[in-house]
Amino acid sequence: MSPKVDPFVQHFRASAPYINAHRGRTFVVMFGGEAIASKDLRTLLYDVALLDSLGVRLVLVAGARPQIDEALARRGEEPRYEGGLRVTDDVALQCVKEAVGANRVELEALLSMGLPNSPMAGARLRVATGNFVIAQPVGVVDGVDYEHTGKPRRIDAEAIRQRLDDGAVVVLTPIGYSATGEAFNISSYDVAAATAVALGADKLIGLLEGRGVVDEAGEVPSQLTPNDAEALLRSGSALGHDVERHLAAAIQACEGGVPRTHLVARQSDGSLLRELFTRDGVGTMVTSETFEGVRAAEQGDVGGILALIEPLEVQGTLVRRSREMLENDIDRFTVIERDGMVVACGALYDYPDEATAELACLVVHPDYRTTGRGDQLLLYLERQCVAQGLRKLFVLTTQTSHWFRERGFDSCDPGDVPEARRAHYDQGRRSKILLKTLR
Ligand SMILES: CC(C)(COP(=O)(O)OP(=O)(O)OC[C@H]1O[C@@H](n2cnc3c(N)ncnc32)[C@H](O)[C@@H]1OP(=O)(O)O)[C@@H](O)C(=O)NCCC(=O)NCCS
Repeated sequence: MSPKVDPFVQHFRASAPYINAHRGRTFVVMFGGEAIASKDLRTLLYDVALLDSLGVRLVLVAGARPQIDEALARRGEEPRYEGGLRVTDDVALQCVKEAVGANRVELEALLSMGLPNSPMAGARLRVATGNFVIAQPVGVVDGVDYEHTGKPRRIDAEAIRQRLDDGAVVVLTPIGYSATGEAFNISSYDVAAATAVALGADKLIGLLEGRGVVDEAGEVPSQLTPNDAEALLRSGSALGHDVERHLAAAIQACEGGVPRTHLVARQSDGSLLRELFTRDGVGTMVTSETFEGVRAAEQGDVGGILALIEPLEVQGTLVRRSREMLENDIDRFTVIERDGMVVACGALYDYPDEATAELACLVVHPDYRTTGRGDQLLLYLERQCVAQGLRKLFVLTTQTSHWFRERGFDSCDPGDVPEARRAHYDQGRRSKILLKTLR
């Protein structure tokens, strides 16, 4: 039996590929004013400091909606929203400046404190803010004059990149400036999406209030395509304003070429780190990339396949295959790849004269079993056989005969398999032979 690995060591090792992958990447992280008002702000900023120390180039986009609403309330004014967007009159603009200014100072102060008594003690963050967002007025839409509410006209990506190159964390606020010298209140979701697109960021990360994105089944979907996200927005589910705006920003970012947007529940401790440093994350990733898929194996997969099958060879479930054998047979293998990792494999050895193939080495990684991947791979391989004109599929197994029986395989004798294979039948293993006629 292999020695038990300490869970800490295991987690640290598992996060190593992500530490390498994220170094030098640009992430735009957006959060609402609720995060700034919360007692968890320090914890969030520790995690930001940790990302910075790992070489991630960070742009933070901080919202201020609750603080603006409070400033209005202090003046006896009601906030006014039309179509989810604030209508910013003269008084509201004053409140925006006041609230955004106070939030910015709060963030800069906390990011400057050297983070004593924290997991990031000694870390010193350099913060850059400025007139990076060039705005234009929303104007009059459907008869509503949005006054000082604006939208991003252009993001000064070059200036942001210079600050990032200098090693600073860039902080953006929901204020943009027009070429005529006016300030406009812009939705922070729009600022974040436009900035991620303009910078060609590697990720847009949204920290959501509540549980995050929750679908109609009440689950947090781990992955959505932009089309799925559109469908969820149109489904009529009561998603709430924050989720809707985050999803819309994710779609905009995806369409603008940002490969991945992660939507994560802010209030769950460490969710940002879990999302970024574990394979399965904890939130919802919006991407048009194939995060997981079935494909023919390539030479580069040999290491991944070996890692998958070796423990089963040690147990005696599978016959031993050397690296050399795998390299020679790699064209026979099909894999399921999940975010760069081989999580399942299977191989077909065909006997065209008998219109038959052997299915071998069907393995699903233990962390990904009982979720239908075995079935998915088997179906894929059966279809491949049929496409090649093969009519029978057989498998030799010592411990999985029931799994195959439930999928249409029947016991058979060594005499039923091609003669060339019979010659190599290992009597000692006493494997059961199961055969399926393909339609
Ligand atoms: C067999 C194997 C490929 C199935 O993969 P999987 O992704 O878990 O399969 P699925 O999710 O499609 O099916 C899971 C179902 O099969 C059942 N199952 C898993 N292993 C089984 C076995 N050895 N015998 C009978 N049923 C089994 C599970 O209990 C589950 O049943 P449920 O749906 O009723 O809960 C996987 O368990 C594996 O890698 N096993 C070790 C390698 C092996 O034995 N390979 C076959 C020899 S070539």
